[in-house]
Amino acid sequence: MVRHFLRDDDLSVAEQRTVLELTATLRADRLARRPLAGPRAVAVIFDKPTLRTQVSFVTGIAELGGFPLTVDGNLAQIGVRESISDVAHVLGPQVAAIVWRTGAQTRIEQMAAAVDVPVVNALTDEFHPCQVLADLATVAQHRGGVDALPGLTFAYVGDGANNMAHSYLLGGATAGMHVRIGCPAGYVPDAQVLADAATIAATTGGSVSVLHERDATLAGADVVATDTWVSMGREEEAAARETPFVPFRLDEEGLALAAPDALVLHCLPAYRGKEITAGVLDGPQSVVWDEAENRLHAQKALLTFLLEGA
Ligand code: NVA
Repeated sequence: MVRHFLRDDDLSVAEQRTVLELTATLRADRLARRPLAGPRAVAVIFDKPTLRTQVSFVTGIAELGGFPLTVDGNLAQIGVRESISDVAHVLGPQVAAIVWRTGAQTRIEQMAAAVDVPVVNALTDEFHPCQVLADLATVAQHRGGVDALPGLTFAYVGDGANNMAHSYLLGGATAGMHVRIGCPAGYVPDAQVLADAATIAATTGGSVSVLHERDATLAGADVVATDTWVSMGREEEAAARETPFVPFRLDEEGLALAAPDALVLHCLPAYRGKEITAGVLDGPQSVVWDEAENRLHAQKALLTFLLEGA
C-alpha cells in the first residue's frame, strides 16, 4: 500500500526511528541510497514562499538519483484553475512522488487520496513534519544518536497554534520526548492534535503539556525551540501578535533557565529581536545551521523509506 507523510504521526515509533537512523547514514554517505535512479521525477510544488525546503528537496531528489520537477503553485493554481483531484490524476502517472507545500491540510489529504504515489507534506497551515524530522535528527546528531531522544525535555515557546507547534507535539511524542508548548492563551494547539500527541506519548514514555509562562516552559529543558510569531498567510495579524508574543521571546535570560548544555533550534527564517534574540540564534548553543542541513538528509531518508521501505 502506498505510504504518505502528511503529518508526523503517519510514521510509527519504529518507522520514525528507522528514518532517523537512515538520516545519519545518508549524512555520512550522501549517495548511499538511489531509490529514484532512472532518473524518476518527483514533483515539488510550492504554493507558499520557500528557501530551505526547495533547496533541500531539489538537492535531495537529485542525490537519490531522481529528477526534481519544481512546480510553481502560483502558475499551477491548484484548486482554482482545476480541482486538486484533476491535478492528482495528471501528476500521479508521471512522477514517483509528490512533495507539496500548501495551505489547508485538507488540500494535501485530497491529493493523497487521489494518487497512488507517496505524497509528502512540505508544510501546511497545520503541520511541518519534514522540519521536525530534521530537528529530531539534529538533536540525535548532537546527543550521540537516536537512542538519546526518549526522555529529553523539548521546550517550544511561541505560537502554540501553528504548524511547528503541532508537529513538535506529534513528532516529539513519537520520539518519546517530554514536549512543552509555551504560548499565549489565545494561541494554543489544536485540541485534537494535543489529544493525539498525548495518546502517542502514553505509549512512548513521553508527555505533552501546554503552559502560558515562558520561564516555566524553558526551565531545565534539554532542547529549546521557537518559530516566527507570524506564519505565512497570517501577515495581516503581525501587529496584533506583537504584544501577546513578546513575553515568549527566546532570549539570553530564558535560555539560562534551560539545561546548561541545551540545544537551540529554529526552523528559520528567523526574525532577530522578535521571537529570538541575535545572541541566542547566533550563540554557542544554537545548532540551527545543522538543523537546516538536516532537512536534506532527513527528507532523503524519508523519501527512501516511503519508496522502498526500510
Ligand atoms: N510557522 C512558519 C514556519 C516556516 C518554515 C510558517 O508557517 O510560516
